[in-house]
Amino acid sequence: MSRKKITVVGAGFTGATTAFLLAQKELGDVVIVDIPQAENPTKGKALDMAEAGPVQGFDANISGTSDYAETAQSDLVIITAGVARKPGMSRDDLVQINQKVMKSVTQEIVKYSPNTTIIVLTNPVDAMTYTVFKESGFPKHRVIGQSGVLDSARFRTFVAKELNLSVKDITGFVLGGHGDDMVPLVRYSYAGGIPLETLIPQDRLEAIVARTRTGGGEIVNLLGNGSAYYAPAASIVEMAEAILKDQRRVLPTIAYLEGEYGFEGIYLGVPTIIGANGIEQIIELNLTEDEKAALSKSVDSVRQVMDVLN
Ligand code: APR
Repeated sequence: MSRKKITVVGAGFTGATTAFLLAQKELGDVVIVDIPQAENPTKGKALDMAEAGPVQGFDANISGTSDYAETAQSDLVIITAGVARKPGMSRDDLVQINQKVMKSVTQEIVKYSPNTTIIVLTNPVDAMTYTVFKESGFPKHRVIGQSGVLDSARFRTFVAKELNLSVKDITGFVLGGHGDDMVPLVRYSYAGGIPLETLIPQDRLEAIVARTRTGGGEIVNLLGNGSAYYAPAASIVEMAEAILKDQRRVLPTIAYLEGEYGFEGIYLGVPTIIGANGIEQIIELNLTEDEKAALSKSVDSVRQVMDVLN
């Protein structure tokens, strides 16, 4: 059996961290692509990572390039390319700039890997995943966005700290768009199989939910420059592993809805089964009226961003 081939587009903080984690877990050979101006640092990062192989004991070829021909026949493509919001740039400007990046990257990917599966991380991720879906012409199950694994991971981190328990025993679920309106589903969250609602007082749970919603901003404020990348990269790699090993994991991902949860023509964070075919299934949960209202508000936020797309 030959090794899998994984392309990571964008050799910035998130892309490089993702590539290194993929190699460490021996999920396949990794090609990192960035723009021509960034070709040398990209090659340097790739070689530096490869030289960690003997020490860490992983077998994976890692290369850096600006030539998409080297990405040909990838089994999986992960898009982290994009521009971060700079002072003076409006959120709408950012959407349109990253939309252009998604379009050009997607054209190259599709040209060289017409049968691949794409995971998108670039923000605003719901609208960027939609852009890649439209531009690629791929079936919806082969274009997936990442946000729920990360949002749930933040929720699980805070819950584990609150209860002084292993993060391994905490499960959580987050629905909706990747933003302050996301909907952490406390009813479906557990510590070692015990419902969180029976372990944590309501006011503390509400505080954890609020902190989860603004988890990305908390990191941005602490870093002072740039946004989170360790946990985002780890989250992407969990999805990548599920696809490459056909694990059929139940993970919250950004999937294209055609009527599920009452929404149409939108990429949104929902519980899914992830395996070799990408999104194998969207799981529809019964929601309370409050949860439905919160999800609807989150959809409105995502649609507002989508309205800015060209
Ligand atoms: N093609 C390929 N790479 C590109 C392109 C392009 N058209 N445009 C920009 N890039 C590259 C940049 O050269 C840079 O190396 O994308 C990389 C982005 O890296 P960083 O600026 O370090 O950003 P990072 O922190 O990795 O975040 C990337 O992930 O979580 C999201 O919100 C985050 O949208 C952002 C993305």
